[in-house]
Amino acid sequence: MCEPRYFEVRYAINPWMDTGTPVDLPLARDQWRTLVEAYRSRGHTVETIAPVAGLPDMVFAANAALTMDGKVFGSSFHAAERRPESAAYARWFKEAGYDVHPSRSVCEGEGDLVPAGRYVLAGTGFRTHSAAHREVQEFFGRPVIGLDLVDPRFYHLDTALFFLGGEPGADEGTGESAGRRTGEGSDEGNVAYYPAAFSPGSREALRRLYPDAVIATEEDALAFGLNSVSDGRHVFVAPQAHGLIDELSRRGHVPVPVDLSEFRKAGGGIKCCTLEIR
Ligand code: ARG
Repeated sequence: MCEPRYFEVRYAINPWMDTGTPVDLPLARDQWRTLVEAYRSRGHTVETIAPVAGLPDMVFAANAALTMDGKVFGSSFHAAERRPESAAYARWFKEAGYDVHPSRSVCEGEGDLVPAGRYVLAGTGFRTHSAAHREVQEFFGRPVIGLDLVDPRFYHLDTALFFLGGEPGADEGTGESAGRRTGEGSDEGNVAYYPAAFSPGSREALRRLYPDAVIATEEDALAFGLNSVSDGRHVFVAPQAHGLIDELSRRGHVPVPVDLSEFRKAGGGIKCCTLEIR
């Protein structure tokens, strides 16, 4: 995660961004620290990268890479303003002992690439190019399922869908969530998504893959409710996504509401601020 020291809306590269709307930086920093604390108090490890002046969107760590099996697929940003972030994140990974394989095509990491059990769900339409989907499949040797995004408000896959993991109650009480989170070796796991963000064919593909998915309303999607992080049990979720929170509880998950409203001014939320090291 990357502390929002230099966070602001200085350019507009998605419909949420309005350079005339100021960010309340002290509030953004409080919200960010609350998210870090929420992760740590639920047993997760949080590493941080030093923020770089002049890179306001660097707070959206999810966009920097996709990591799985200890391998790192580095991003190649769509917008010129964000391209220098790649070098900063590559340095962090090097120092942490990882090699970074750079994407040859436009690719925005976990913004558009969502590991989902045996598959990687991969968005395209606004940012990540479908050529990158093939690179990801080749690099990780995991089946990549391409999904077309059609609503500019949901310009990254992680604004319209998140992976819930497998059965929330499967190993209740052990405190172990990693196996369930990956879905590996068990079932396919499940997702939550907002259907209208996808093309008709992609919507149908999701329906076939996840007949029991949590379907979010437009209201919950606009509240960035789908920009959530799930460890299988806890779901770190925007508190404004009321319908989604109720449904997650009903299904046995434990919603952990964390408000990142200041980050919404740049088109980001909980998941955007979080790059998962797998
Ligand atoms: N302002 C950033 C952009 O438009 C927000 C990125 C949000 N990140 C995400 N994973 N959806 O690139």
